[in-house]
Amino acid sequence: MKNLKKILAAVLALCILLCFAGCGPKDTNSEADGKKVLTMATNAEFPPYEYHEGDEIVGIDAEVAAAIAEKLGMELEIADVDFDSIIPGVQQGKYDMGMAGMTVTDDRLEKVNFSDTYAKGVQVVIVKEDGGIASLDDVNGKKIGVQQGTTGDIYASDTVEKGGYGEENVTKYANGALAVEALKAGKVDCVIIDNEPAKAYVAANEGLKILDTEYANEDYAICFAKDNTELQTKVNNALKELIADGTVQKIVDKYIKAEK
Ligand code: ARG
Repeated sequence: MKNLKKILAAVLALCILLCFAGCGPKDTNSEADGKKVLTMATNAEFPPYEYHEGDEIVGIDAEVAAAIAEKLGMELEIADVDFDSIIPGVQQGKYDMGMAGMTVTDDRLEKVNFSDTYAKGVQVVIVKEDGGIASLDDVNGKKIGVQQGTTGDIYASDTVEKGGYGEENVTKYANGALAVEALKAGKVDCVIIDNEPAKAYVAANEGLKILDTEYANEDYAICFAKDNTELQTKVNNALKELIADGTVQKIVDKYIKAEK
């Protein structure tokens, strides 16, 4: 009799457990409308690649990523984080991929894998129109603003012998917009940043210009965790199709108007 009670209790407990397992809330992180979510980390102060428009994050990367997600039958979710936490977050699996006008470098290739490249960038120098900096040589000894952890930061922070301007002359900001604000406020004498964001910032702010010299050509690509070659392959295939059928170019043309 005692045994029967025990068995009944055990069966009941098992039923409750199974019910919970079966009826529990769905994992909302990995599904939305039944579609798998593709999380992309970016730093959305980088027009025209990614920036805020009202509540939305728009730009070339945001739209290309959405097109990729659509091809993969996934739902794109964008996380706006500091640029230098994109790679660590991707490495830890917090985000499926990082897409942020991110330059492929040897150092980064040790931490993450990159997709095929989908755009090119050039590091340029933004100065005040009347700031007295006319060439890269004039930048020597001046105060330089950069976006923390970007290639502009890495080049500028190098020693003079290695072609940089010395760490002591570099102020690192969490994003490009803050660096440009600092330039306008006279806290730094110039900002080193990628050419397209530079153009966007100069267009949106009076009294700024881009130096005629440009000094580092770069390739942009999407990064993935080293062990996520499955997604890397899928994204590369989608990207190839989107380049071949002109979708990527159409998105670029929407955001970057041909020079007049
Ligand atoms: N191309 C540069 C780099 O990879 C700057 C990228 C900054 N991107 C951004 N979304 N804030 O370091």
